[in-house]
Amino acid sequence: MQHIISVLQENRIFPPSPEFVRGANVSGMDAYRTLCAEAERDFEGYWARLAREFLSWHKPFTKTLDESNAPFFRWFHDGELNASYNCLDRHLPALADKVAIIFESDDGTVTRTTYRELHREVCRFANALKSIGVKTGDRVIVYMPMSVQAVVAMQACARIGATHSVVFGGFSAKSLQERIIDAGACAVITADGQFRGGREIPLKPVVDEALAMGGCEAISKVLVYQRTGSAVAMAANRDVWWEDAVAGQAETCDPVWVNAEHPLFILYTSGSTGKPKGIQHSTGGYLLWTAVTMKWVFDNRPEDVFWCTADVGWVTGHSYVCYGPLAVGGTEVIFEGVPTYPDAGRFWKICQDHRVTVFYTAPTAIRSLIKAGGDLPGKYDLSSLRVLGTVGEPINPEAWIWYNEAVGGGRCPIVDTWWQTETGGHMITPLPGATPTKPGSATLPLPGIIADIVDEAGEPVGRGKGGILVIKRPWPSMLRTIWGDPERYRKTYFPEEFKGKYYLAGDGASMDEEGYFRIVGRIDDVLNVSGHRLGTMEIESALVANTKLVAEAAVVGRPDDLTGEAIVAFVVTKGPRPTGEEALKMARELREWVAKEIGPIARPKDIRFGDNLPKTRSGKIMRRLLRAIAKGEEITQDVSTLENPAILEQLKGSV
Ligand code: PRX
Repeated sequence: MQHIISVLQENRIFPPSPEFVRGANVSGMDAYRTLCAEAERDFEGYWARLAREFLSWHKPFTKTLDESNAPFFRWFHDGELNASYNCLDRHLPALADKVAIIFESDDGTVTRTTYRELHREVCRFANALKSIGVKTGDRVIVYMPMSVQAVVAMQACARIGATHSVVFGGFSAKSLQERIIDAGACAVITADGQFRGGREIPLKPVVDEALAMGGCEAISKVLVYQRTGSAVAMAANRDVWWEDAVAGQAETCDPVWVNAEHPLFILYTSGSTGKPKGIQHSTGGYLLWTAVTMKWVFDNRPEDVFWCTADVGWVTGHSYVCYGPLAVGGTEVIFEGVPTYPDAGRFWKICQDHRVTVFYTAPTAIRSLIKAGGDLPGKYDLSSLRVLGTVGEPINPEAWIWYNEAVGGGRCPIVDTWWQTETGGHMITPLPGATPTKPGSATLPLPGIIADIVDEAGEPVGRGKGGILVIKRPWPSMLRTIWGDPERYRKTYFPEEFKGKYYLAGDGASMDEEGYFRIVGRIDDVLNVSGHRLGTMEIESALVANTKLVAEAAVVGRPDDLTGEAIVAFVVTKGPRPTGEEALKMARELREWVAKEIGPIARPKDIRFGDNLPKTRSGKIMRRLLRAIAKGEEITQDVSTLENPAILEQLKGSV
């Protein structure tokens, strides 16, 4: 992959400025090393200290880590707390008038919500949830636009000990239905629709469609926030307007104290099978790491205006929109729209208008903004910025350098944060006031995170080599299990090959002579398209679900300058192989089909038709060859084991 090759050639070093180091929460590499040494000396003592310093406990814990049932680890498990209390109540009354959320809508309307107001709204909505019968331990689906109300909905669930499962607003009815069923949810919180890029996109009709598909009978209520005002159908006895549900509700609501291990949320993500995994997170360990990383990685200060552009439908939006910024009593921006509307200067205008100090986004957004207007940041006053961050995929050094110069004015450290839905928070990342950065490298593990690169036998490969990224000790914000499938959790993340001891991240990586990590990309059948995680098997299942047209399908990724990876599908049709105009038409139809089955983010970029797929004599699809074809590479590998070598020429030649 071209961008990865260029990453490997990159060796410029960017140390933070002495001024930045002086004022930083973790100030200088010695401070970083001191923390690492503390974790090494007394692993549990280190985490216990942080948990006591960063969180408010209703009942203090006496045990830090329980490894007796590994890999089902428990942290702080005899302690009790409430996530919403930690994000709101404990900041009152001191921060009552501090702005918690600056919300900018798609059309530019700005609203500010203080901690007092946010607390009140969360309490009223929590009471509304209780009044419709939601109880501690119940699962609630949140299918919402980027809004203050999405955060209110999540925080209200946390307040009463209900486990939320947010489904990204771009997912289809079918994806939503699958998640509702798997989570065993009893209620859905949604909106009539959302505005993005000047367009109105419906949400409630998608919920209706999902519920009509069957299997969702456990859903007794749907709460609907009115955002667009468009007419939507409201089912009698089932659907309730948000406004009506909160009307007359008390403005306080006692938090339900839950065990530190109580599931705060389930978030579905793609793996190497057709079925998404419900990643289950805890309350105590998870919240702890969101707060610590806010302080250390984003160098959070009381006067900061923090902006993470991720949607609440992804883990980044959980940890660094809904929980982290509020857990540290910060002020954050939430933006409803898209970076290119009304023009490609929108992000920079928001940074300027709200005096954003810490800005966190995805490399794919950076690349598309360079393309749409590389000179645009220069037209705005970005002098308030002091830390920049990236997440979700490797950043190519060219984009890194542009981000550093055009956006950061050469004075803002860039934190390239490697982590995953499963890890709950940052794992490998620079600390802005300590770590000298190298473009394209996520640099070093955070103190207490024991990361390494090993070979297939689990042996460390050592510096200067590539291999499989593993985490060798548990950490508080790690996933606890896969909802309803503990065996899959064990097999996927703590496989036998590594004696069940190491957490397998699913990424390939290399380490340079100084121990800096470079994440190369997934080693499993997971693609990363615009920072979104998609399983090739999921897309294949969606394609073959079209029983009218598709006999067989195989999906692979190929590098793409803008989206990181692009989806390429090879399809064998039920009827004769289409060519010319007919092939173009069918490709369009199948693309839309996948968008409808999973969501527009899963729409294949290329669809190629063949009479067959390249298979071994035992019938296994040779994905390696398909990847080479998708990239337009010469096939140099041995194809003598192929049942049908002639198929390669056909797949190369077709549209
Ligand atoms: O492949 C890695 C990539 O994104 C995957 C995790 O995706 P997801 O669970 O959706 O979470 C994304 C947001 C935390 C990882 O396995 N990835 C994430 N951050 C980086 C990255 N790859 C390279 N550099 C990063 N900074």
